Amino acid sequence: MKYIIILAALLTLACDHKPEARTSPAPKPETQATKEPAAPPMDERCSALQQLAEMDPRTPVPLQPMMAWHQKQNMMEHLEAIQGITKALAEDDWEGVQASSKLIESSPQMAQMCQHMGAGAEGFTELALEFHKRADKIGEAAETKDTKEVLRATTHTLEACTSCHAAYKQDIVDAATWTKLTGSAHQPSMHHVH
Ligand code: HEC
Repeated sequence: MKYIIILAALLTLACDHKPEARTSPAPKPETQATKEPAAPPMDERCSALQQLAEMDPRTPVPLQPMMAWHQKQNMMEHLEAIQGITKALAEDDWEGVQASSKLIESSPQMAQMCQHMGAGAEGFTELALEFHKRADKIGEAAETKDTKEVLRATTHTLEACTSCHAAYKQDIVDAATWTKLTGSAHQPSMHHVH
């Protein structure tokens, strides 16, 4: 256990990237060719992550590890909500549609969370809030008991999912870097709401 903690700490240190390096252009192919031979495993892991970062052109959303994990959990729940909506819709279960869409509808807590998650990436929070606003229309459409209307509202919502995914990626940073990039203090209490 102790070994794992030390290893994790070492990995964090080893992969630590300075905020200034974030905007520097990707290295030219010739620098890649002069790669040092027999790099230790940790370097290999970091360079693999570096390779991924370079091939993924999306805007990084800086998140501390706990925030990133929380965001992933939120995302899995979002997909489950959509699953619940389509399942209920297929059964003309209008209350079921509303119960599932409630999970992704706007609320003050949801807005606060989106603000927190998007603090380091311009435009992220706006897309997130727009997504929840679109989801509000799913429950409204279910009131009309009109399958096509619910499908249209769900598609409109899914378009907000996919356009955010096309634009942003997680970027895991340490607390100091996050504070530096966002100019705000971390609010760990937000991640213990469940
Ligand atoms: C405002 C931006 C935004 C919106 C809106 C959004 N997502 Fe995401 N989603 C993200 C980001 C950022 C990631 C992490 C991508 C990465 O791994 O770098 C993610 C990841 C995911 C993942 C992968 C989770 C994992 O375990 O790695 C799923 C599934 C997902 N989103 C589903 C959805 C669904 C379904 C919706 C809409 C109903 C949605 N998301 C809306 C930003 C968004």
